[in-house]
Amino acid sequence: MDVKDVVAVVSGGASGLGEGTARALASAGAKVAILDMGLDKAKAVADEIGGIALQCDVSDAVSAEQAMADVEAQLGPCGIAVNCAGIAPAKRIVGREGPQALEDFNKVIQVNLVGTFNIMRLAAAQMQKRDPNADGERGVIVSTASVAAFEGQIGQAAYAASKGGVVALTLPAAREFAKSGIRVNAIAPGLFGTPMLLGMPQEVQDSLASTLPFPSRFGKPEEYAKLVLHMVDNAIMNGEVVRLDSALRMQPK
Ligand SMILES: NC(=O)c1ccc[n+]([C@@H]2O[C@H](COP(=O)([O-])OP(=O)(O)OC[C@H]3O[C@@H](n4cnc5c(N)ncnc54)[C@H](O)[C@@H]3O)[C@@H](O)[C@H]2O)c1
Repeated sequence: MDVKDVVAVVSGGASGLGEGTARALASAGAKVAILDMGLDKAKAVADEIGGIALQCDVSDAVSAEQAMADVEAQLGPCGIAVNCAGIAPAKRIVGREGPQALEDFNKVIQVNLVGTFNIMRLAAAQMQKRDPNADGERGVIVSTASVAAFEGQIGQAAYAASKGGVVALTLPAAREFAKSGIRVNAIAPGLFGTPMLLGMPQEVQDSLASTLPFPSRFGKPEEYAKLVLHMVDNAIMNGEVVRLDSALRMQPK
C-alpha cells in the first residue's frame, strides 16, 4: 500500500520505536496521528513532523474510542495502524516478598495485549470504510511483539505472556479482515536503543549488547520503522510475525 496521504495512527508514538515509526511514516507522506499517554512529548513529535497528537490510554476502551474518533474527525478514517505502546516491568512470579501481585501481571497484559487489540478493533472498523486501492487493500495493521514472546527470561512472565498474545492475535485478525482487504502483521524486536533500554545502567546495557551475535549493538528505531514501511508496502505480506533481532536468542537470564 502506498502510504502517501494515508492516515496513519501510531500508538506509543511519543517515544522509541513508535516515534521512529511516526517520523518515517510522515517522511513517506502519511498523515500521522500519535496516540500516547504522554501528551507533551507526543505533541512535540507531532509538531516536528506535521502530524497530530492525542492523549490516549490504549488499555482503556473509552479513551481509545475517543482518540480514534478524533483522528477520524480531524484526518479521516485511518488506513495504517502501528501498535507501539507498551511497558516492560520485570518481576519474578514468586519473589523475596512472596507471590507477585496479580495486579502487576494484569497491568502488563492490559497495556501490551488488550491495548493492541483495542487499537486494532477501532482502526480496522475505520479501515473498512475506506475505498480499496487497485490491489483491493483498505488498510494495514502492524503490531509490536517481542522476542520475549518466544524466549521470555526469568522476570518476564507477564511481558512474555502479553507479547505471546500479540503473536497469537496476528493470524486470526489477518484471517478475519481478509475479506475487507486489511492486512495484519507483527514485528518481534530483539534489543533496540530506546528509552525503555537506554534507561538501564551502562553495564547492563553492555552485557545485553554482547548477547547479540551480529550486529552486536542495539537496533535503531529507524531500523524498526523500515520494516514497518516494508510491511505496509508489500501487498503479499500478511498474517506474519517477523523477528528483528541480530540473531539474538535470549537465555533464561
Ligand atoms: N526497546 C526494545 O528493545 C524492545 C524490544 C522488544 C519489544 N519492544 C516493544 O516495542 C514497543 C515500544 O517500546 P519502546 O522501546 O519504544 O518503549 P518506549 O518506552 O520508548 O515507548 C513506549 C511508548 O508507549 C507509551 N505508552 C505506555 N503505556 C501506554 C498506554 N497505556 N497508552 C498509550 N501509550 C502508552 C509511552 O508513553 C511511550 O511513549 C513496546 O511494546 C515494547 O514492548 C521494545
